[in-house]
Amino acid sequence: MLFPVVLSGGSGTRLWPLSRQNQPKQFLNLMGDHSLFQETVLRVSKLPQARPPVTVCSEDHRFMVGEQLQAVGVPSGGILLEPVARNTAPAIALAALHVLAQDPDGTMLVLPADHLIEDEAAFRSAIDAALQLGDDGWLVTFGIRPDYAETGYGYILRGEPLGEGGYRIARFVEKPDQETAQRYVAEGTYAWNSGMFLFKAQRFLDELARFAPAMLEAVRSAYAQASIDLDFTRIGREAFAASPSDSIDYAVMEKTDHAAVVSVSCGWSDIGSWSSLWSVAKRDENGNRHEGDVISVDTRGSLVRASDRRMIATLGVEDLVIIDTADATLVARKDRVQDVKTLVDRLKADG
Ligand code: GDD
Ligand code: MG
Repeated sequence: MLFPVVLSGGSGTRLWPLSRQNQPKQFLNLMGDHSLFQETVLRVSKLPQARPPVTVCSEDHRFMVGEQLQAVGVPSGGILLEPVARNTAPAIALAALHVLAQDPDGTMLVLPADHLIEDEAAFRSAIDAALQLGDDGWLVTFGIRPDYAETGYGYILRGEPLGEGGYRIARFVEKPDQETAQRYVAEGTYAWNSGMFLFKAQRFLDELARFAPAMLEAVRSAYAQASIDLDFTRIGREAFAASPSDSIDYAVMEKTDHAAVVSVSCGWSDIGSWSSLWSVAKRDENGNRHEGDVISVDTRGSLVRASDRRMIATLGVEDLVIIDTADATLVARKDRVQDVKTLVDRLKADG
């Protein structure tokens, strides 16, 4: 059986001031009627092979997840509540144990909750190919053709062909430095890791046992202490907190020799920052994206989002991001929005 697993524990600080601790970006209506989390569960609910999605998120967001699932009519395959965040490897390990409890041969399709996919048919056919490889014991990634030297992504070098349009991964490099990323893109032989994965739950745990045994042990005892409350599975706090914190990319994908990649061109984007949101949004003839009550004259290439409290007017400016909320307003140059994270860290430090 195929179990979609939606990772929904990130904080999305680069989308401050809209994204906050109690309302991270995956739960916001950033474009259109649904949040990115809702788009993700709707997308997987259309996969003919898939069971209802399993969500892994912070305890603090349980009601939001429950409500957002209900609002789009997607049944829940279980909501696993992390008492503390330990990054994606422990989160996926929890989901693997949850899947194995229902099906010892279960396959997981791991999906970040904060991505946009425009071409769902292409997404579905990539999953069909990945399922075959997953059955053969591969940890399958979905590779995207890179269009610039992004340092926030993983890079995948293709090895020998495996059939089904898949390739063995010769090398997986998570978040290379700028120079390395530039070289990879120039060489043209690397793909971006999309952050989606497909594998047998047992296969993933076997790899974790090999490369991160302490993590597996901590997650196993945290899961053994879980208590179930309707759709929610509360994970043992102390045992989970004792797990090392690491991402699947560093903990497993860089190390395993059982990884494969399927290329997919499905209009994928990671809505990581205000500039990525601007670049995927519909814009007017001046390259502006306005939301809410906004008026602009001689303004170009800007993303302006008014709150319902007041209008925003811009005059003679270019490439700005202006985001107004009830208690904070961000004004930034569009090419500096990666540093919103630094700004938020400063805010936290200043209390
Ligand atoms: N449940 C849970 N718990 N989810 C988490 C946690 C956690 O502790 N930490 C992160 N997540 C969720 C995020 O909400 C997001 O949906 C997903 O897991 C990936 O985490 P990110 O923190 O956004 O990872 P990244 O963007 O730095 O890197 C990953 O994605 C890139 C593509 O967007 C890697 O897989 C890269 O290799 C990849 O290129
Ligand atoms: Mg991300």
